[in-house]
Amino acid sequence: MTYILGIESSCDDTAVAVLHNSKIIANVVATQKIHQQHGGVVPELASRAHQSHMVQAVDTALQEAKISKEQLTAIAFTQGPGLLGSLLVGGSFAKSMALALDIPLLAIHHMKAHILAHFIADAQQQEPLNKVLNDEQQKMPQFPFLALTISGGHTQIVKVTDYFEMEVLGTTIDDAVGEAFDKTAKLLGLPYPGGPLIDRYAKEGDPKRFSFTKPKVKGLDFSFSGLKTAIRYFIEKQTKQNPNFIQENLQDICASVQHTIVTILMDKVKLAAKQTQIKTLVIGGGVSANSEVRKRVQQLGEQPDWQTFIPKFEYTTDNAAMVAIAGYYKYLQKDFAGLDVVSQPRMGM
Ligand code: KG4
Ligand code: ZN
Repeated sequence: MTYILGIESSCDDTAVAVLHNSKIIANVVATQKIHQQHGGVVPELASRAHQSHMVQAVDTALQEAKISKEQLTAIAFTQGPGLLGSLLVGGSFAKSMALALDIPLLAIHHMKAHILAHFIADAQQQEPLNKVLNDEQQKMPQFPFLALTISGGHTQIVKVTDYFEMEVLGTTIDDAVGEAFDKTAKLLGLPYPGGPLIDRYAKEGDPKRFSFTKPKVKGLDFSFSGLKTAIRYFIEKQTKQNPNFIQENLQDICASVQHTIVTILMDKVKLAAKQTQIKTLVIGGGVSANSEVRKRVQQLGEQPDWQTFIPKFEYTTDNAAMVAIAGYYKYLQKDFAGLDVVSQPRMGM
């Protein structure tokens, strides 16, 4: 029986979770509102906010889990990639706590954690939403599978052959997909982070109303900067003719942009499946909260031979539950970190 404390502080969410074997019994996320005023994450402010949120978040998680810190088996924390100042806060806290409690420390790769979130006992989105599955009905992906990890910092297609054996098959050569959403939202005058707002407006819009040229990038790599420029020129041109263009067409613009972005992602997934002969797909990262991504991945899963896995919302955007489950598998492998482990803003898979 294990109780793993997970700590995630790679960007602007201070998150702490408690995992009992493979079940999450506490999942706390303190989102830093301060960045909204600045239109994006300010690294210096993020690390300060982590400092002030961390102790409270750990306390709340332990209370929610109804356990004392002495019952913890190990502490898992995000080693990287991410913002250095933010990572250092979580990393230093995790080290001190592991040292004080004399329990193992587990250093976790943020993007691997997004993928391993699928192994949390209740990870999968259940359809219909109110249906409760028993333990045996819970599906888990079988190795090997493909993972589409899409967030504000990453856009990757990964081949996963074991819990910690992952190979990046394709990645973005410029902007991440979350940036494409957030930068488009900014052009439309929407507040940061704009991805969820584009999703919301898109629900009432016509995805075929405007079309944008998709980037031509070889193989499994992605590019989103050209699309962002195309959207900017399009909006500039239209608002010159009609200053109210954005207000009058917001839903259709959002739906069309979202449709283009999601089609780019899905085309690459299908290409990856063709190249690897793997038709099991999991998604992870903040952008996998997007409703069109979820709908189209679900539709893909209904195709012959395909199996797709869509995590619950709380396990898609940055969270510590995913860090705790990754820690659990590291713990089983006895892959412990020393107290000299260093935070790594850049970290290969
Ligand atoms: O994984 P995450 O929480 O943090 C990073 O590691 O980046 O991802 C955040 C990103 C942001 O760009 C945000 O706009 C985007 O995920 N996002 C969405 C949606 N929810 C979050 N993008 C589109 N539609 C959504 N519903
Ligand atoms: Zn993330």
